[in-house]
Amino acid sequence: MPTPSELSRAETWRLLLLVGAGLSVLVNTFQGDGAPLIASAALASISFAVAFSMIRWLGPVFIKAGLKGKDMAKPRKPEIPETMGAVCAVVYLISMIVFIPFAFYKDIVAATSGGGNRDVVIGDPHVETGRFLHRFPHGKLALYLSGLLSLQSVVILGIGDDLLDIRWRHKVLIPAFASIPMLIVYFVDFGVTHVVVPVPLQPYIGAFIDLGWLYYVYMAAVAIFCPNAINMLAGINGIEVAQSLVIAILLLFNDALYLAPFTPYPHPATDSHLFSIYFLLPFIGVSAALLCHNWYPSKVFVGDTYCYFAGMVFAVVGILGHFSKTLLLLFVPQIFNFLYSTPQLFHIIPCPRHRLPRFQPSTGLLDTSMTEWTVPPSPLIATGLDLLHTLRLIRIVKNQEGQIVESTNLTILNLWLVWMGPMREDRLAWHMVGVQILCGLFGLFVRHRLALLVFNVDNRTFESVV
Ligand code: UD1
Ligand code: MG
Repeated sequence: MPTPSELSRAETWRLLLLVGAGLSVLVNTFQGDGAPLIASAALASISFAVAFSMIRWLGPVFIKAGLKGKDMAKPRKPEIPETMGAVCAVVYLISMIVFIPFAFYKDIVAATSGGGNRDVVIGDPHVETGRFLHRFPHGKLALYLSGLLSLQSVVILGIGDDLLDIRWRHKVLIPAFASIPMLIVYFVDFGVTHVVVPVPLQPYIGAFIDLGWLYYVYMAAVAIFCPNAINMLAGINGIEVAQSLVIAILLLFNDALYLAPFTPYPHPATDSHLFSIYFLLPFIGVSAALLCHNWYPSKVFVGDTYCYFAGMVFAVVGILGHFSKTLLLLFVPQIFNFLYSTPQLFHIIPCPRHRLPRFQPSTGLLDTSMTEWTVPPSPLIATGLDLLHTLRLIRIVKNQEGQIVESTNLTILNLWLVWMGPMREDRLAWHMVGVQILCGLFGLFVRHRLALLVFNVDNRTFESVV
């Protein structure tokens, strides 16, 4: 019998097979013009296998290093390894670095051996002096590297947070610094800061409005929001990774809509969406490996590193792929969770260190967790809480004098439990996955269909306007 930190024989064989298949596909993409999409998919499957094994092997090492957390929703509150997202992130970053020659293979060939015409034989001196290297798309490489640098910075800062438990008001800003490299490349490369005005408003403000520097503030806000929003929708087994996987798969689906055969090639947005796919495929690979260990009952926790890393992957593809508004449509549950949390985040309502649902040992189910009012709320806040209670948006407990002594913590998980009653941890996680999928699909429908009510065209059907 393998120990819990070893792979079973069957797992070892399956993973070896996956790595072998991935490697042979990868090597074969170095032909003709190269096949970056296939190479990216092959690297994603290799990343899955590597992350899966390393998470399993490194568990005891992490525990020994003190990187562990108590699973609060279990009767005995077992201690399991935390910060396993760091393993995922490192495997991901290495895979993204290895991918560079595959992504630019066609351009490297074109720049070094006859300006793209493979029949022209160029003498060595020309190749040596890099005569044709000006043809290489340095801009695209800069874009790719800036995304990678932003991700690397957020991972380093995330690991720092997991080690040192940084305070909320400080860590909210962590991704702001990490976003600087990609915002700079955006500024140098695109500098597009105008947005299309909805048709009903166009007679008053014109077809476009230039937001100028405010557009950079908006992008920085997206980069701050996404990582923190995933970290806040957390606390039950599997939920951090599951929501990220759903968002990533829906983004991938949206990207695929811009590729042949779904759209006439060459579509102006094809390159941005390919860029997004290259960042998403290995992310899906490492996240799936993490989910295998993090789903109920969790063997490992993901740590804040994973939440920041996942959120930053989305921010990078949304900003550099030019679809940050579509991205926000896929973040509806997170946006709701954030807005719903604001009274606690701004300490209008007391905010305990943990707001995750409470485990009931007698039933084995999760119920809402409560925040205690040691000092009764002011009459205004008490009226507000009473109203929310009547609307079934929170639950409150009063003492005999009619004063509020407890109210539910303001998270979407607790709200769901207010509505549906106590339930098992994995059932709650499945419900949240369902909510994320439904909201996401509706978001994409809004993006490609309902948006036509206020905008002239959906950019997928660009041909109809040119
Ligand atoms: C955020 C939330 C906090 C929530 C916590 C749960 C805000 C402002 N903060 O804080 O309310 O309680 O995430 O992750 O919304 N844990 C479990 N089971 C799980 C996942 C986590 O018991 O499935 C516990 C473990 O003890 C683990 C700890 O949560 O060690 C991790 O919490 P941490 O990520 O440090 O919390 P924050 O991100 O600061
Ligand atoms: Mg966290």
